Parts: sequence; structure tokens; C-alpha cells
Amino acid sequence: MGTARKYTVIDPATGKIDRRIFSEQTIYDDEMEKIFGRAWLMIGHESLVPAEDDFFHTYMGEDPVILTRDGHGRLHALLNMCRHRGNRVCRVDDGNAKRFTCTYHGWTYRNDSALEYVPGESEAYYGALDKSSLGLIEARVETYAGIVFATWAKDAPSLEAYLGDARWYLDTVFNRRDGGMQALGPMKWLEPVNWKTLVDNCSDNYHVPTSHLASARVQTRYLGRPRLSHEDQFESPNKHAFVNGHSITFRDADDNAPRYMHGVSSETFQLFQEYHDATMPEVERRLGTLRARRVQLGNHSIFPNGILGLRLALPRGPLKTEFWHFVLLDRDAPEELKRVIRIGSQANNGAAGMFEQDDVDNWRQVTAASTSRFGRRHPQDLSMGLGHAGAHPDYPGLVSERYISENNQRLFYRRWEEFMNAESWAGIPLDLIKARFDGTATMRG
Ligand code: FES
Ligand SMILES: [Fe+2]
Repeated sequence: MGTARKYTVIDPATGKIDRRIFSEQTIYDDEMEKIFGRAWLMIGHESLVPAEDDFFHTYMGEDPVILTRDGHGRLHALLNMCRHRGNRVCRVDDGNAKRFTCTYHGWTYRNDSALEYVPGESEAYYGALDKSSLGLIEARVETYAGIVFATWAKDAPSLEAYLGDARWYLDTVFNRRDGGMQALGPMKWLEPVNWKTLVDNCSDNYHVPTSHLASARVQTRYLGRPRLSHEDQFESPNKHAFVNGHSITFRDADDNAPRYMHGVSSETFQLFQEYHDATMPEVERRLGTLRARRVQLGNHSIFPNGILGLRLALPRGPLKTEFWHFVLLDRDAPEELKRVIRIGSQANNGAAGMFEQDDVDNWRQVTAASTSRFGRRHPQDLSMGLGHAGAHPDYPGLVSERYISENNQRLFYRRWEEFMNAESWAGIPLDLIKARFDGTATMRG
């Protein structure tokens, strides 16, 4: 592991990775500072706070944060910590409020962070309290296609630069329609797993035909889902791409077929086909022909802990992660389609999702292995596809030759090292935006 401040956890030549990063408290504490203290973190969606004075309670790493929309419609991410002694000023998950009153001594804050009222300001404090310096601590906030991100780092690059060319792929799910998306949820639960294990799993297609064999067979029999096999995956033209810490898997989509998503079955296929056909002219205008017709984002992660769309893997110690599972829907999709996708999403992922339960069983054991007194001396092996990724003429980022590869995982841990070893953002490399963003879609939606 090198010196106390210097992390070299993955050997790029062999893909061997030190298991201790999944279990050691001191490393975890450093992650909270060096990664969660300065990365752009996904914290919610604009549709969770649609009206003035709406708020939604969320987290940046382990820190409780209130996402608010103030009376002027502006978004804020406010640390839920009274500046007096530290009580939480908000005790509920969401709602609508112009102010937050601390229940300890009654200091009262506006939803734009300002400390507005202090009991006994003139009598007890003799008019000497500098209220203007005691507003709630505020993070920087930016949005991408309605998804809200926040960072504590004043020197962080723009969110647009942070996402970089990953947005070229992300747009194919999150930026398809003029009307944007809406988030439902979240469903929340805890698992005894390290947060990185499930982020790394987002690019692990290799496990699918094995881990999910039984679940997939059920879906093949009852929903008409195509059979899953290793052979199909090895021959697939689909690929992985990596940009700035973000791991993308994507499908070389069939022009005229609806995008695969949870809820598609032999019964509902026609509904998806009609929606695909009806919306394609709009999607093509927004994303250009190649992305609209030929590229479909698959499983992916946004560094550090955004997974599979609008899902959060909130760290709760080295051996525990809190999952927040949202369902994201095109806001203007027909209600019947929304219902089918919502039910399909929960049948696959979420606490009772068939695929989720297969996955969590693996992640628990991988995490437990990192606590094994003897086993942890032996590294994980992430050598698959070493030397088989590079630049591609059509697709941005570092692109793997195959759909089955551990290239994204290796690069995720390299990105982890870059954050953990840097003193500030000036020391964290960032790929410039090089992709051609055809169409009218922008960061703003
Ligand atoms: S701790 Fe909040 S008012 Fe005292
Ligand atoms: Fe899985």
C-alpha cells in the first residue's frame, strides 16, 4: 500500500488489486475526505423538488444534506447541521418549507441557507452575533438533464467538464425527451458491502449468465426475455467505455427496436415499440442520428457512487452501504408505459428485485473476503482484457474491444488512486471534451 498518504492499490500490468481497500477504516476515512469531500456527487433530481420552497433530504457521502428550491426557484445543497451546536435542522425526508428551525435553541434558517432568526439576539447576545457568517454550510450545486449534483470543493471543475464525454452516452437515456425525466422514490435499504464493490459491478457483464441464471430463466419463461449466455456476450458488438472515472457499458442498438429496459416482456413489447416509433423523430433531433438510432447506454456508474441510473450507493462505513433506488421515467411517456417500467424496475432491482438479490449475495462475500485475516493478503484478480482497449473512431472514451472486459474496473480503481493521492483538484487529471454532441440536447436538458 506504500506510505500512509500514498496509495498504489492496483497493479496496471497484472490487474491485481489490494483487498484492504474494501475493509480498512483508515482508508475509508481518507475516502470520505479525498473522494466524497471533493468529487461531484449525485444527490437527487429536480423533479423531487418541483415547486418553490420544496425540499428533499439527501446525503453527500455520510453528511446529511437538504436539497432545497428557494423562493426564486434556485437549488441549494445545505449541510443539515445547525451552526450553533450542530443539531439537525430538518428531521423529515421531504416537504415544503420556507424556513428550518433548530429544535435545540430555535435558531431559524431560510431555505437559501441564511440564518434569519436567533432567539435573544439582542438580549442574550447583546447584538454581537454575526448572523451573516452563520448560515447553513452550502455546497456547490449543478444539474445535468435534471439530475442534481453537489460538491464541497471550491476548486472542482464544472460538472460539464467532470462528466466529460461520458455525457455522450448518458444522454441516450437521460436526455432523450424535451420534457425531461421524473424520479420516483427512493426505496432505501442497507447491505453489509463496501461501496466500491457494487460500483465496480456496474461494468461486470461477465457475472450475468452465471449469477443471474435462475432469475434470467424465470424471465425467459414468463416474460419472453431472450436467453442469456456467455456465448452471446462474447460475440456481442456491445462495448465498454471509460471517461474521467465514469464506467459506461453500451449496446450497439438495433435501429428499429425499442430500447431494452425493465418492464419489456412479450405482453408489453408492443407498448414499447409504439413509444419508440412515436418518439424517434424527437430523440433524433435532440441527439443526432448515431446516438438516437445506434447507441443505448447499458449498466454504468458515475464516479464515485452513482450506479445504474439514478441510484445511490451511500457509504456507511467500510463494511456497509445504504442503497437509494429511484425509478427514472420520461415525464411525457404514456401513464401505462410508466406503470409497466415502474413495476419492471422493482422486479429486477430494489430490495425485492430478483437480480438485486443475486448481486448482493456476491457483494457480501467479496466484502467479507477483504476482512479475512489470511485471505486479504491475496489480491483480487482483475486481469480480463488487459491490453484490449483504446481509442475508437466512433465512440468517445477509452473503449474496450468486447462487452466482457475488466477494463472499466481497472480504470475505476486507477481513478480512485488519482483522487486518493492528489492534494487538490489541481492534481486530478481530467480528459477534455472531444466527442461530437450532435443534436439540440444540452447539460440543461
Ligand atoms: S444547536 Fe441549533 S439552536 Fe442551538
Ligand atoms: Fe448483476
